[in-house]
Formats: sequence, structure tokens, C-alpha cells
Amino acid sequence: MQFFVDTADVDEIRNLAATGLVDGVTTNPSLIAKSGRDFIEVIKEICDLVDGPVSAEVAATDHDTMLAEGRKLAKIADNVAVKVPLTPDGLKTCKTLADAGTKVNVTLCFSPGQAILAAKAGAAFISPFVGRLDDISSDGMALIDEICTVYSNYTDFETKVLVASIRSPQHVIEAAKIGADVCTVPPGVLWQLFKHPLTDAGLKAFLADWAETGQSILGN
Ligand code: G3P
Repeated sequence: MQFFVDTADVDEIRNLAATGLVDGVTTNPSLIAKSGRDFIEVIKEICDLVDGPVSAEVAATDHDTMLAEGRKLAKIADNVAVKVPLTPDGLKTCKTLADAGTKVNVTLCFSPGQAILAAKAGAAFISPFVGRLDDISSDGMALIDEICTVYSNYTDFETKVLVASIRSPQHVIEAAKIGADVCTVPPGVLWQLFKHPLTDAGLKAFLADWAETGQSILGN
């Protein structure tokens, strides 16, 4: 499973990238607004921080303008993945960009039917929003299971399932059990994945017992 970090906070990305466990980054207009940074500048900085795909979302809703914005975003760095919404114009733009060799992340996916269309449009990634489905008492993980099942039936579908709108480590674990390709994880949730009280207690006990030996592995 690949881990993308879902943020435009450069400091958060830098800290998590240092773990060696970050395979990419996703942003969206809300995350860019939250960063308070210039869009082009912050995407360039993020692309310099991680080698993997960095999703940068278009802001237009019509095909012609989406295409112009997407082409501009793709020129920022080789690892930019252009993000488009799952609309008719968005998928038309996806097809045009994908046919030209640009990676496209199709976002705001909430049904298996939408995911089929995105795969047919040549999307590199499909982003189903599990948290927002859970928020309305729908089953976000069931959607991931359906999409992974549908995609596994067609060898010509090369779109990776990028689980988005993740709210907890349990979402990551459930996505991994299903076999989703990627999880894009808010920084706080990614740090939570490391944590377990028994790990903390066990390490504390190990260190206390080691101190009793009076030894030092590296010597004095
Ligand atoms: O990448 C999409 C993600 O940022 C949406 O998450 O929490 O706004 O539903 P959320």
C-alpha cells in the first residue's frame, strides 16, 4: 500500500517525509486555502520535498479552462498529478491530459459508476471520499470494496484506487484489508498509526531494565 499525505502544510510534509514512509501528497482547493500560501509556489515546494505524485487540483469547471489550468499545473514539476472533479467536463479533461501522458487524479468520487467512468477516462488515480460518506451514515469502505472488485474484473483498467477523506487509522487498516492501492492520510492520522499504548509501555520497561545493566552499546 502507498501512503500519500493529505495536506498543503509544507512543514508537516517535511516531517513525515523524513520517516521514509511517504509516497506522495494530495492537495485540494480547501487545503491550499488553509495553507495561506500561493498555490503554484506551494505545489513547487511540495514537489521538491517528495519524489512521488503530488496532486494539484484545477479550479475551473469547464473543459477548456480545466485543460489550460491542468497543462499549467503539469508543467510545475514532473511529479505533479493534475486533480479534476468527477464531472463530464472533468473526465473529458482527464481523457485529454491522460492521452498526452499527464497523470490525473479524479476526485470527489462517491459511487462505483463514477469510478468506472474515471477508469475509462484514463485516470491514474480515483479518489473515493470515504469519510464524507460515513459522515452521512453511508458506508464509505463498502464503496472502496465495490470499486476494487469492479476494477479487478478488467485488466485494461489501470486506475489506482486512492482512498481519500480518511478520518482514522481504522480507515487505513480497512482499506488495506480490501487491497486499495493508496491511502491519502491527514498528517495527524498518519502519526496516530505509529501509536499503541502497549508499545510505549513496553519500550519504557525495556529502557528501565537496560539502564539497570549499566551498559552502553556504543561504549563510553
Ligand atoms: O483529498 C480529499 C480530502 O482532502 C477530503 O477530506 O476530510 O475534507 O473529507 P475531507
